[in-house]
This record gives sequence, structure tokens and C-alpha cells, in this order.
Amino acid sequence: MAASLFSSLCLAVLFLCVCQTFGVNLRLDEPEERECHGTNVGFGYSGTLELHYQHLKRRYAGCTYIIGNLEITNLVDPKIDYDLSFLRNIRYVSGAVLIGLITEVEEIPLVNLEVIRGNSTYFLQGDHYSLVVVLTSKGLDDNFGLKELQMPQLKEISHGKVLLKSNPSLGYVDTVDWLPIMRGKEEDVHFMENACNFTVSNVTETPMCDHGTRWGQNPSMCQTVTYKECSDECDGRCFGPAPNQCCHASCAVGCSDKGEENCFMCKDYLYDNYCVGFCPAKSYPKNQNCVKYE
Ligand SMILES: *[C@@H]1O[C@H](CO)[C@@H](O)[C@H](O)[C@H]1NC(C)=O
Ligand SMILES: *[C@@H]1O[C@H](CO)[C@@H](O)[C@H](O)[C@H]1NC(C)=O
Ligand SMILES: *[C@@H]1O[C@H](CO)[C@@H](O)[C@H](O)[C@H]1NC(C)=O
Repeated sequence: MAASLFSSLCLAVLFLCVCQTFGVNLRLDEPEERECHGTNVGFGYSGTLELHYQHLKRRYAGCTYIIGNLEITNLVDPKIDYDLSFLRNIRYVSGAVLIGLITEVEEIPLVNLEVIRGNSTYFLQGDHYSLVVVLTSKGLDDNFGLKELQMPQLKEISHGKVLLKSNPSLGYVDTVDWLPIMRGKEEDVHFMENACNFTVSNVTETPMCDHGTRWGQNPSMCQTVTYKECSDECDGRCFGPAPNQCCHASCAVGCSDKGEENCFMCKDYLYDNYCVGFCPAKSYPKNQNCVKYE
């Protein structure tokens, strides 16, 4: 056992040396890209709470792209030691994000989530929502519920609104500058009853973020903002203030110039360096790219 461990370590070291010698870039720091399918059950789950949590872990471990909805719900068993670090690699959700019925978790570490596409939404009380955060503590005075919704990289919700309700201990979401995320439509963020705990950001000593906008106490939770003042015609995405400086409709987050080849990210898929709404013939979607085949 010890011997085989030792020899595999040697092999690993040898491998690294060889790679360095030949200048191969291993990019060990970047997580591998992986596409996973989300769910469409809302607040439902089957089996026990323990099984439900294990299913969530198994479904999302290592995922970078979620096709469909990301539903993180029913984390309410005080006997389970919840660890949501499996959410850390997720960068993109094509559908909606639902976070609710969570009483035993203090943080949702979606620290790399950049885009919620909102291709599907939740229809609630007459509105279409693509980010829903509700019911995250046992009672209104309970300060053990969800405290931080950690999405410092979130730059775009392409479609659908935001609903925050019954999160009495949730801090900082009131400091977030939603305007760039919502492409100028800040009124689409609905702070309902007990949306969050507004006192947290007033009384907590925190290091400065640009403009003070943050998703949590740690400096790494400062909001990442890419935003330009756009002309009204632009739907909130542009590379300059003039009406003819709008980003292409296929762009997410922003762009460097006109055209679907100059997007910072694609709303849907990348095909031959162009952002497209669907993968054309003789190609199939994978990791937000269109892969060609013969
Ligand atoms: C709201 O935040 C303040 C300041 O951090 C804290 O004292 C209070 O207990 C919080 N309330 C709830 C319900 O979490
Ligand atoms: C937080 O501070 C701001 C400005 O200092 C003040 O207007 C607001 O009422 C305070 N909110 C709470 C809940 O204490
Ligand atoms: C969005 O939904 C439509 C149909 O509802 C589907 O054809 C399309 O592939 C979806 N796009 C993404 C990026 O999931």
C-alpha cells in the first residue's frame, strides 16, 4: 500500500517534470468544464432528507454548466452536516435558480456563477422569476438561517425577475447593485416581506469594496461589475453610450464591439467564435459551445 502510493507519487512528479520540460500547460488551477442537467421539481423531493441531499451532491459535483434549473431546496434536517461546496464550480445556469426551504445552511457558495440565462422561469403571483430565494429560516426572529447568498461573480440575469421573501437573517443582498445584473431593469428585483436583514450591512465591519456592493462579509464577496451606461435602444448591453453602440442580442454580460463575434459571453452557445441562439446543423451543444461533427 505504502509502496504503491510512493510509486504513484513518483509517477506524478515525473509527469509534472516532463510536462514542464515540454512546456505543456496543464492548467491545474482551472476546473474542468462539465455540463449537467438541472431539475424541474420546485420544492418537491423524494425519499428522505438525507437521500435528497446526497442526490443534490451527486448531481452537481464538478458541474460548470447547468442545463435547466438549479434547485437547491429542503435542507432542513438539523442532524445533517450540510456542505454545499459542490456548488462552487457552477458558472452558468440556462434556466432559473431556486433557493428555498433551507434552515440549516448559512451560505450558498455559488461563488463562480456568472450568468442566469432564465430560459425557463417560475411563474409566481403573476410574474416570471429566474432567481427565487425564499423561506430560509425557521422563524422571523431566528438568526440561524441563511446569512449569505454568495454570488460575487453574478453579472447577468438575461430573462426573468428576482424574488426575495422570508429570509430574515440574509445579509448584504440590499447592498448589491442589481442594475448591471438586470440590464438596467432594477425594478425587476422584488424585495417582498422579510426579503433580508437590512441591519447586517449597517453594523458589520467589512473591508471596502468598490461602491460598497457585496454579497458577503469576506473581501472576496465584493461584487464584480461590468457595466456601461447604454442608450435606451440597447437592452442594457453596449460598448459605448451611442444608440449604434449596442451589443448583439446574443451577447451576455457585455461586448467589446458590434456583432455576435464580440461578446464577453454568449447567452446560449458559441459556434465558430460567434454567439448563436441554437447550434446549427452538423453540430451539437456541449459546455455552451457547438461541437461540429461530420
Ligand atoms: C439581523 O442582523 C443584526 C446585525 O447583524 C443581528 O443582530 C440580528 O440578530 C439579525 N436578525 C436576524 C433575524 O437574523
Ligand atoms: C442603515 O443605514 C442607513 C444609512 O446610514 C439608514 O438610512 C438605514 O435606515 C439603516 N437601516 C437599518 C435597518 O438600520
Ligand atoms: C431554451 O429553451 C428552448 C425551448 O424551450 C430550447 O430549444 C433551447 O435550446 C434552450 N436554450 C438553452 C440555452 O437552454
